[in-house]
Amino acid sequence: MKILVLNGPNLNLLGEREPNIYGGETMQSINDELVQLGRDMGYEVDYYQNNVEGRLIDRLQEARLDCAGVIFNAGAYTHYSYALRDAIASIKIPVIEVHMSNVHSREEFRKTSVIAPVCRGSISGFGKYSYHLALSALNNILGGEK
Ligand code: DQA
Repeated sequence: MKILVLNGPNLNLLGEREPNIYGGETMQSINDELVQLGRDMGYEVDYYQNNVEGRLIDRLQEARLDCAGVIFNAGAYTHYSYALRDAIASIKIPVIEVHMSNVHSREEFRKTSVIAPVCRGSISGFGKYSYHLALSALNNILGGEK
């Protein structure tokens, strides 16, 4: 079974982008760790990052054909992209919303997520562990938890 880790705009700059908020680890090292953790649980973890809304929609649509679930950090699109919301609502596989920072403790605009209502659940505020927790949640949803 395959799980997709999908990252939106500016997350390719993790490690150099506002390290006081997002930490010093790169996206690659976070993804490498998720691949390993996923393997230990019996999943193939695929990852993809893009800054363009439409590319994220394309990848979500593709995931419906060959993935069992998606871990999605939509970056700032979280707060206003109805197109991404519709894409998530259009597919049947579970999508977990993740954020590294605690979006509720930051600027007002970050407190709104237009994708949250169509995601299976949301995790925010635990740095790279937000992704780890999402992987555990997916494992539980997919019936793999021991
Ligand atoms: C983020 C939070 C968003 O508000 C922000 O636009 C990001 C990253 C996070 O992981 O904390 O790009 O999704």
